[in-house]
Amino acid sequence: MKLTYLGHSCFLVETSQARLIIDPFLTGNPVATLKAEDIACDYVLLSHGHDDHSGDALPIAQRCGATIVANFEIAEYFAAKGAKTHGMNPGGGYNFPFGRVKLTLAHHSSSLEVGLSPIYLGSPCGILLQADGRTLYHAGDTALFLDMQLIGRAGLDVALLPIGDNYTMGPDDALLALDFLKPKVAVPMHYNTWPPIAQDADAFAARAATAGHTVRALRAGQALEV
Ligand code: NI
Ligand code: MN
Repeated sequence: MKLTYLGHSCFLVETSQARLIIDPFLTGNPVATLKAEDIACDYVLLSHGHDDHSGDALPIAQRCGATIVANFEIAEYFAAKGAKTHGMNPGGGYNFPFGRVKLTLAHHSSSLEVGLSPIYLGSPCGILLQADGRTLYHAGDTALFLDMQLIGRAGLDVALLPIGDNYTMGPDDALLALDFLKPKVAVPMHYNTWPPIAQDADAFAARAATAGHTVRALRAGQALEV
C-alpha cells in the first residue's frame, strides 16, 4: 500500500486493486502541490463534510467516475449532485472490491457551507481501511477519545493523525492517541495549512520517538510504502 501526502488531511492511497483519495482538499489549499485536475482515482473517501476535507470531492468523483464513500448524509448530498456514492455510518464496515472500509467515531462536527449558512451532514468519522493485508486509520478531524484503544485493536500499520490543535487534537493529545492506537508508523496531518494550526511536525516526531513511537512527518508530495 502506497500512501502519498497531498497536504492538510488529504492522502492518495494506492492499493493493488484501486486508487483512493481521502479528504480531497487541493483547490484553495495553500500547501497543496497538486491540483484537483491532476488526480486520477477510483474512490473518494470522506471523513466529514467540512470544506477542507470534501472541497474537491465532487469534481474529482465526476471527472474520474469515482465512487464517494462517506457517512449517509454526505453520500446523499453528493448523490443528489449526480455523483456515484456509497453511504455508511460509524461502526459499519463494507467489503469493497479493493478491501474493507469501516467508519469509526470522531469527535468533531460535520457541516458544509452552502450559500450563507451551514447545512449539517451527519456524524464526523474516522476511516479504517484494510487492503493488501495492511490496515490504515485516517482519524479525520477529531479530539482525543479513549475509544481509540478499540480502533488500535485492529492492529494498525499506519495511523494518520491531526496535530494542528484549535480545531482538532494538538500534539500533546496526539501523543496520547499514539499510546491508544499503537500504530507501526504514524503520519501527522491537519497542521500548517493556516496560522491557527501552525505546528512543528518534526518536533512532534521527536517527542513521539522518545515515547517509543515512529512518526514520519511527510511533506506535501512525499510518499510512504506501508
Ligand atoms: Ni473539520
Ligand atoms: Mn478540518
